[in-house]
Amino acid sequence: MTQDELKKAVAKAAIDYIAPRLDSDSVIGVGTGSTANFFIDMLAELKNEFDGAVASSEATAERLKSHGIPVYDLNSVSGLEFYVDGADETNERLELIKGGGAALTREKIVAAVAKTFICIADDSKMIGILGAFPLPVEVIPMARSHVGREIVRLGGDPVYREGVVTDNGNIIIDVHNMDISQPIRVEEQLNNIVGVVTNGLFARRRADLLLLGTKDGVKTIS
Ligand code: 5RP
Repeated sequence: MTQDELKKAVAKAAIDYIAPRLDSDSVIGVGTGSTANFFIDMLAELKNEFDGAVASSEATAERLKSHGIPVYDLNSVSGLEFYVDGADETNERLELIKGGGAALTREKIVAAVAKTFICIADDSKMIGILGAFPLPVEVIPMARSHVGREIVRLGGDPVYREGVVTDNGNIIIDVHNMDISQPIRVEEQLNNIVGVVTNGLFARRRADLLLLGTKDGVKTIS
């Protein structure tokens, strides 16, 4: 199976999981990226069976709207039953690295609100210790050099992601070669640097359910 076929399979598995649990008041949190895009396209088939969605990025909002799915501001909804999103890496504890698409801050906010965070990923994303994928950090532009120096102090190699401005008007620093054997600790250390908006470690709020696409079918891990 190709990677896209695995992504489609996990998107379908997420649809199969949420479909029987939706009602006309349900609002769904929707993630960002190519796997999330397959999910959005399949979600369109169900659009008359739930109220609408909260998007984790402008790109996702546009895609949802193009299918006629109502998109709500997070502040106008009382809660989210589900948040469905991809990941750049996951470990077996369902701690994640996200933000390859630079949407990590809004993704983390939507995940924080959702009762159930369903991660959909192909098995190339599963890893023993997080950090082979450079860890994205969203940074207030004027703090770029300061944050870079602090990341070096913590043992990482910061690389400014050229030409990228987040939906929040900030920049991204990707952290290479960081020891992430203790994900919650690293998540907190990075978030404590002044000028960091947030980082792409989803360890304090990890996924609740992982639908992992493998050549032998979709594995459900919780
Ligand atoms: C965007 C993300 C995505 O979930 C992550 O990059 C995975 O993307 P894809 O499904 O395209 O592999 O965190 O900020």
